Amino acid sequence: MITFNEHIMQFQLDTAHTSYVMRVKEGFLEHVYWGALLDTGDHSYMRREQGRASFSPHLEGCRGPILDDIPLEYPCFGRGDLRTPALEVLNPDGSDIADLRYVSRKIINGKPVLNGLPAFYAEEGDRVQTLCIKLRDSFSALECDLYYSVYEDLDLVTRHAEISNCGAQALTLIGAASACVDLDRCDFDVISNYGTHEKERMIERTPLVHGKMEFASRRGSSGHVHNPFIILASRSADEDKGEVYAVTLVYSGCHSMSAEGGQYDTCRVVAGINPDGFRWQLSPGETFVTPEAALVYSAQGLGGMSRTFHRAINDCLIRGKYRNRRRPVLLNSWEACYFGFDESKLMQIGACAADLGMEMLVIDDGWFGVRNNDTTSLGDWYINRAKLPNGFDNIHKMLHEKGCGLGIWFEPEMISPNSDLYRAHPDWCLHVAGRPRSEGRHQLMLDLSRQDVCDHIYESLASLLRTGTVDYIKWDFNRNAAEVGSALLPPEKQGEVLHRYYLGLYSVLERLVTDFPDVLFESCSGGGGRYDCGMLYYMPQTWTSDNSDAIERLKIQYGTSLIYPLSSMTGHVSASPNHQTGHVTPLNTRFNVALTGSFGYELDPTKLSDEEKKFVTETAAIYKKYGDTLVNGDHYRLRSNYTEDCAAWCTVSPDRSVCIAVYVNTHVRVYPRNEHLVLKGLDENAYYRDTLEGKVYSGKQLMGYGVAVDRNYEYSSAMWILEKVK
Ligand code: GLA
Repeated sequence: MITFNEHIMQFQLDTAHTSYVMRVKEGFLEHVYWGALLDTGDHSYMRREQGRASFSPHLEGCRGPILDDIPLEYPCFGRGDLRTPALEVLNPDGSDIADLRYVSRKIINGKPVLNGLPAFYAEEGDRVQTLCIKLRDSFSALECDLYYSVYEDLDLVTRHAEISNCGAQALTLIGAASACVDLDRCDFDVISNYGTHEKERMIERTPLVHGKMEFASRRGSSGHVHNPFIILASRSADEDKGEVYAVTLVYSGCHSMSAEGGQYDTCRVVAGINPDGFRWQLSPGETFVTPEAALVYSAQGLGGMSRTFHRAINDCLIRGKYRNRRRPVLLNSWEACYFGFDESKLMQIGACAADLGMEMLVIDDGWFGVRNNDTTSLGDWYINRAKLPNGFDNIHKMLHEKGCGLGIWFEPEMISPNSDLYRAHPDWCLHVAGRPRSEGRHQLMLDLSRQDVCDHIYESLASLLRTGTVDYIKWDFNRNAAEVGSALLPPEKQGEVLHRYYLGLYSVLERLVTDFPDVLFESCSGGGGRYDCGMLYYMPQTWTSDNSDAIERLKIQYGTSLIYPLSSMTGHVSASPNHQTGHVTPLNTRFNVALTGSFGYELDPTKLSDEEKKFVTETAAIYKKYGDTLVNGDHYRLRSNYTEDCAAWCTVSPDRSVCIAVYVNTHVRVYPRNEHLVLKGLDENAYYRDTLEGKVYSGKQLMGYGVAVDRNYEYSSAMWILEKVK
C-alpha cells in the first residue's frame, strides 16, 4: 500500500513485511527509511539533521542545505552532492548541472508498462500500486518522473525513471540510473557475483569499503563477469537471518551496480545502465525511459531474499505458456555430436531419446548455411541440405509420432564475415567506419539499433516457426561488443547505439513471443553470459553455463540461485568424463545436480548401457512428476560448496506437502563424521515418507537432525523425495 501524508510530505510504500519511506524537504526528495514494516506514523525523526559540511558546499548561501549530507532518491551531478550521481546531464550551455526539485505526485492502482523495455508486470487482482513523483529542474526544464511500484504480497518494490526534456534546446544524458538508495550505515558486507565463461556467478562477499565498489559490464550484454545485481548484507546475516538489501536490474545491456561507503559512514547504492560509453541526446519533447530496478529487503537473511526474488520472477516477470510450469525433458545435440551430425545421426539420437521418455530434441549449432565449425554462416539461416537433405521434415515427423518436439539453435544477433548475409550487407554489423572490425569467435554483432536489421532477424525466425515444425528455440549470443557504432546514426547519437540495440532486441523478442506463443524460448550466451531479468521476461529459462560438469555446477547453480529461480536454470546431464573438466562423475550425481526446473540431457543416448538407459527412463519420470514443484517451490540452500566439501539444497512445494532434497559429496576424507542433512521449510507437525526408500520421518526430525547421509565416495550424492503422509 502507498500512503502520502501531506502535512509532513511523507511517502510510505508498504509491502506485507517491508516499508520504504521518503519525504520532501526544501524541494528535495529524501530517502528516510527502508526495512521492516512500520506503522504509518511520522517517521521524520529518523532523518536527523547533522549539518555535516566537511568541505561540502551549502546550497544557496552558507546556511542552505548540504546536499552531500542528505540521503537522496535521485541525486544529480553538479550542485554539491559529491557522491555517485544517479543523473548526469550535459546542458546546452556546456554545464553538467542538474537540480531536481519536487513538483507533484500521483498514485495509480496497478502498474503502467515500461515503453519498449522488459519489466515486472501486474495482473488484474494483484495487490500492486504505483507511485509516480515528478521532479523538475526549473533552470533547464528537465523533468524526471520517478516510478515506484509496490507489490504488496511479493515484498517487492520496482523503480525506474523517465526523464523528459521540456525545454527548447537539445541536451544530452551522460548517466541516467534506474535507482539510487542512500542507507544511513555502511557496516555491510557486499555480495556480488563474479566469473567468466564456464565459471559464471561465483559468489564474493567482502566488507563494504569507504569508497566505491562497482560491479559492472561494458561488454555489450550483462555478461559472464558481473551479474546485474548487488546485495548489502549485515555482517552477521546468513542464509536464515539478518538484514539484507538487494537490487537487481531488468536489463540485458551494460550495467553498473555500485555501493559507495561515504565519508559519514553512509552507503549509497546506484543501479542502472553503465554510463561508460553511454550518451543519449534528448531533443525538446523527448523522454528517456530507464530500465527497471527491482528492490528486495529481507530480514530473513539471504535465503529469504532469494525466495522473494524467485517468487517475484516466477509469478510477475516470466510470461507465457511455460510460466509456473515444468519444461519438456530435452536432449540437446551439442555435447552429443557438436557440429558432426547429419539426418541419420539426428534420427538415431532423437528416436532413442524419445524412447527413453524425453520430450524434445534440440538440434544445436551446425544445421544452417555451410556451418561445420564456428568460422562461418551466422546470418544464413537456411537449412544445410548437405547435412539435412529433407530439411527437418523427417526428423520432425518421427519425433512427433513419438510424442516428442523439435528444437533449433539460433544465434540471430550475430553475423559471420564469411556469410552470404555479410557479403550482401557489410554495413549491418556494429562498426565504426574506417576502423578495423574486431571479431569474437569469428563473428560480428548485428546492429540491432536498425529497424531493417531487426525486421530481418524477426523474419528469419518467423519464417521457420510458421512451418509449425519447431517447438523450441535456443537463442544464443556468443561474443562481447567492441567498436560499437551504427552506420545509420549521426555522430551525436553514437553513444545511444548499445541501448538502442537492446530496445531493438526486445522489440524483436516481443513480436516473436506474441506471434508464436506456443514456442519455448531458451536464452543462452556461451552458457550464462546474459542471465538477467531482462531476458527472462521473454524467455523463461537460460542455459546456466557451458560448464556442464556436475561438480563445477554446484557453485554456479548456488550463485545463480541468489536471485534467479530454479525454473529459469537449465540443467543437463552430460557425459562422463565431462567434456570441460574430465571429471568422472556417477550418473545419479549428474542427474541430481541437473534436476532444476528446466531439465534435460546433453549426451549421445545411443551410447548408454542398458542399465543407464533404465536410469534415464526412471529419472525422466521423476522430473515429469515433480517438475512443477521444482519450478514453483521454495528453494533452500542448505550446504555450500564454497565453504564445505559438499553441497546440499532442498525445494519445498508451496503447500509444504513435497520436498526434494539433494546432497553432493565433493571430497572424501578419512574417518568422516556421521553426516546428516538438516532440512528446512517443512511442516514440523507433519510426517513425511521418503518415496525412494520408504522410510517415514516427522517434520521435527527432518528439521532437527535431518536425514542421514553416507559420504562413501568422491562425487557420490543422494536425493530424497519426501511426501507428506496424509
Ligand atoms: C554456445 C552455447 C553452447 C552451444 C554452442 C554452439 O557456446 O553456450 O551451448 O550452443 O554455442 O556453438
